[in-house]
Amino acid sequence: MHWSKTQSRARFNLATSGVAPFPFRELPIDAKELEINGDDSYGYPPLQQTIATHQGVDADCVVESAGTSMANHLAMASIIEPGDEVLIEHPAYGPILDTAQYLQANVKRFRRVEVSGWAIDPAEVRRCITPKTRLIVITNLHNPTSAFTPEHVLREIGDIARSAGALVLVDEVYLDAVYDDTPRTSFHLGPNFVVTSSLTKIYGVSGLRCGWILAQPDIAWKMRRLNDLYSATPVHVGQLLGVAAFKHLDLLRERARGIVEADRKLLQVFLAEQSNISAVSTLWGTTSFPRLLNGNADSFLQRLRTEFETSAVPGRFFEMPDHFRIGMGVNTEMFAEGVNRISRALATQIA
Ligand SMILES: Cc1ncc(COP(=O)(O)O)c(C=O)c1O
Repeated sequence: MHWSKTQSRARFNLATSGVAPFPFRELPIDAKELEINGDDSYGYPPLQQTIATHQGVDADCVVESAGTSMANHLAMASIIEPGDEVLIEHPAYGPILDTAQYLQANVKRFRRVEVSGWAIDPAEVRRCITPKTRLIVITNLHNPTSAFTPEHVLREIGDIARSAGALVLVDEVYLDAVYDDTPRTSFHLGPNFVVTSSLTKIYGVSGLRCGWILAQPDIAWKMRRLNDLYSATPVHVGQLLGVAAFKHLDLLRERARGIVEADRKLLQVFLAEQSNISAVSTLWGTTSFPRLLNGNADSFLQRLRTEFETSAVPGRFFEMPDHFRIGMGVNTEMFAEGVNRISRALATQIA
């Protein structure tokens, strides 16, 4: 996160994971209808109901949060006691690992491997689970690879978790980037599923911090009470704008979709032409996670930045230093030139 805030930018910035910002002026709202203060002690009912309708769940299962980041923190902190075993995918989005460690969990890992398309192997999860496991954590779509985990696999993970009395936390912040036949939330798969998400990554309104957790009402209440520590009251303007963003969600979604799909076409051509990298290509998502076949990815990315003014995320942030992550969905002209420059850098890469 620190690297991303301080060092990721470049003229051709492919170190992204979310889509282009949606401009405020294009949101069809009357600014005079906004208000600074509201009556919303444990969630703003219109927003809570809007999220509930969007996800097809009861409103008392919805906990508002400041983005998926706070959602993941509240969810994990409400479930985990120090010393509990938490099973987290590898590779993983760093802040999920950091949060579990901050909560003094005993973190164990199950592997997703490239040869299997980064898919979750339930047999591997079964091997890793113990009676001390309290929580299994998954991202769907997976960050950094955008691999999609289908419902039958999630069900199996749910069954494995249940056999140990554990819960499954699924971070679905990228799920809506499956634009055709968008899967329903895994919250429907049973009472031991907890889901986190937000409008930040796929809808271009990160600044609204419109995030949420889906959990059974008793755990949801615990999360709201925990949030009292961090946020006495939410930012009401943000809540109003969150409701407005949901009202025009198709507009936000289609704008981003056009860019993501154009970028994906370019990515596929780029990946097909390269002999110095291997990559699992997906039909969805905003990221790709190629492996550099020769040489060190860190020094490659350094050269990519200094000689080619292009950035991508080093795989070491996902504990896979041979890889790097490329992001789509911001600006197709920039993406085209960015992958062109990566091609040129790869062509001159010395093993
Ligand atoms: C898997 C995952 N979860 C959560 C987040 C943070 O989301 P938010 O901006 O909604 O806090 C990110 C951001 O990159 C992410 O990749």
